[in-house]
Amino acid sequence: MTRKLFVTTALPYANAPFHIGHMMEYIQADIWVRFQRMVGNEVHFVCADDAHGAPIMIAADKAGKTPQQFVAEIAAGRKQYLDGFHISFDNWHSTDGAENHELAQDIYRALRKQGLIGERNIEQFFDPVKGMFLPDRYIKGDCPRCSAKDQYGDNCEVCGAVYSPTDLKNPYSTLTGATPVLKSSDHYFFQLSAQRCIDFLREWTSKPGRLQPEVLNKIKEWFSVDEQGHVALNDWDISRDSPYFGIEIPDAPGKYFYVWLDAPVGYLASLKNYFAKTGSDFDAFMADPEVEQIHIIGKDIITFHTLFWPAMLHFSGRKVPDHIYVHGFITLGGDKMSKSRGTGISPLKYLELGMNAEWLRYYIAAKLNAKVEDIEFTPDDFVARVNSDLVGKFINIASRAAGFLSKRFDGILASDHAADGTKLLQTLMTQSHEVQRLYEEREFGKALREVMLLADRVNEYVDQNKPWELAKQPGTDARLHEVCSVCIEAFRLLTIYLKPVLPALAREVENYLRVENLSFSDADKLLGKHVIGAYTHLMQRVDPKMLVDLLAAPASAPPAAVEGNGAAEDDPGGEAIAETIAIGDFAKIDLRIAKIVSAEHVEGSDKLLRLTLDVGESKTRNVFSGIKCAYKPEELAGKFTVLVANLAPRKMKFGVSEGMVLAASHADEKTHPGLYILEPWPGATPGLRIR
Ligand code: MSP
Ligand code: ZN
Repeated sequence: MTRKLFVTTALPYANAPFHIGHMMEYIQADIWVRFQRMVGNEVHFVCADDAHGAPIMIAADKAGKTPQQFVAEIAAGRKQYLDGFHISFDNWHSTDGAENHELAQDIYRALRKQGLIGERNIEQFFDPVKGMFLPDRYIKGDCPRCSAKDQYGDNCEVCGAVYSPTDLKNPYSTLTGATPVLKSSDHYFFQLSAQRCIDFLREWTSKPGRLQPEVLNKIKEWFSVDEQGHVALNDWDISRDSPYFGIEIPDAPGKYFYVWLDAPVGYLASLKNYFAKTGSDFDAFMADPEVEQIHIIGKDIITFHTLFWPAMLHFSGRKVPDHIYVHGFITLGGDKMSKSRGTGISPLKYLELGMNAEWLRYYIAAKLNAKVEDIEFTPDDFVARVNSDLVGKFINIASRAAGFLSKRFDGILASDHAADGTKLLQTLMTQSHEVQRLYEEREFGKALREVMLLADRVNEYVDQNKPWELAKQPGTDARLHEVCSVCIEAFRLLTIYLKPVLPALAREVENYLRVENLSFSDADKLLGKHVIGAYTHLMQRVDPKMLVDLLAAPASAPPAAVEGNGAAEDDPGGEAIAETIAIGDFAKIDLRIAKIVSAEHVEGSDKLLRLTLDVGESKTRNVFSGIKCAYKPEELAGKFTVLVANLAPRKMKFGVSEGMVLAASHADEKTHPGLYILEPWPGATPGLRIR
């Protein structure tokens, strides 16, 4: 059965360009949406700028622009990010659009008709110079407890006291420096504490599978009741006084909706705007009980989406959301990367440096799960996942087989496969359902792990059959043809499984394989006898230097002293070439090809991996190697590398190390992260001496 999905991400404030946190949310949502489209579901995926509110009005004022001009300029900058990272929104709109004004007012009128809008007079600080009420964040003063200067209106950063803005001593407006005065005005409230609201929300939130368990846990306290029988959930102040950039409240001159009232309505407004363009019926769609409405958001805006928004919809007689899927934050060095800190990774700089957007998509996907967990951006990890997994395991399959197929077999695939090839392809095809299940459940990290395990199987098949040797032997043409064809069949299946994450790459593979728009149903069959196109390399490895550039301070700051002036040429890899030695000195070092039989973590060590190496001797060797930062044990097992075989055994805390595995790194690992072990060309066997 085809599902009908209405999917949104949170609407970003239109006061700044996107930061990496936004891209993380969009990439996550986009992967899920692309997956849904690939299994044949109908998806409408929309977003919009969140244009209203005091901060945007104030920022526009400071920039000498009208709020409309200001948000229009931000909106004009959105496309390069969305296209650049292959985000497939069907529509991008604005909460200041006509649809949103109309829908927000309609919803409000319906809530009022339900008797759920109250009115109350409240006293607030007012800036007499600006002539406006001051949101708390624009008021500072002396701490009422310790008298520390310049403290915000809610708590003191010096002594930790918690208070309200009216408690501050010598308060001032951060906009004008004026002393704010207390002024009263009428505010409108959405009466969420009404019993019917509580009842509805209790029921809506507790529907199994609707919210993640952590989310449910977090909002549960809102429904708790004190000894007097009062529920913790308060009525919600939804009005602001003029001047305000927002939507006028009907029948209340000079009053505007608080930005968070009209913001989620923007989801509907964007869909309506989109449907108007495509000639679809918005009202019919929203009335269709089969439609699933899904909002993907970050953990900081849970209450707006799980309490206020469903209640607004329900009591205005509209469809309520089916799921709110909440994600954690992407962090860098533990810091939430967002505009408020001005730190982190600029998505635009990422693109400008020529970094491949799909590296980031892959990396983020590899770290995501269905929980509300933060993910840490780690440069080394980024390099390792892209280079060893994405390129080293996946792309490698095509590059190992493609040349032979075009040079020797005119790009025609063989349709007959021997038992080993058939079995391999069968295994890959069988896993399609598991991969689909994991995408559906937003367990992207697990899905990619599954796909990489399959890629390992394919690479083992290549290693066993050694096409480069078959190519040299007489009479093994048919086998070479078959092995390479199996590789390409396998590559196509893996491409299907990775396509939600790597849409642009999948497009290139489709061109190469001369197939059209791969979807999951294509994983039920093979290409068989089929002519493919010419192979061109599909994806580069990341140069770790790119990450150094990406994370370097912006150009306005003095350049970081990464390398001395002009010293780079004399100091390749950050250090001068060592003193000249005689060949006899080198001959003393016995370097051998070693096969990594197994690799494992060493308990109590955050640097070392324990490697069991086959060096062609009667027994294996135990070697500790400081490569944990760059490689995961499971990606090492089965690989070949280079060992210093005649080093005196070294007793370590964890056991005896019988040799040393070689690895390349920059002299300054801090500024130039990246550690690479060596891998011989195919064909080398354990024990061969390197001379
Ligand atoms: N305008 C509101 C949302 C209104 S929805 C009707 C808003 N905007 S925002 O620009 O501050 O955030 C937009 C989204 O980005 C939110 O879901 C937020 O959680 C997410 N992120 C902001 N920083 C983030 C990270 N560092 N990591 C991941 N997502 C983060 O809130
Ligand atoms: Zn204090």
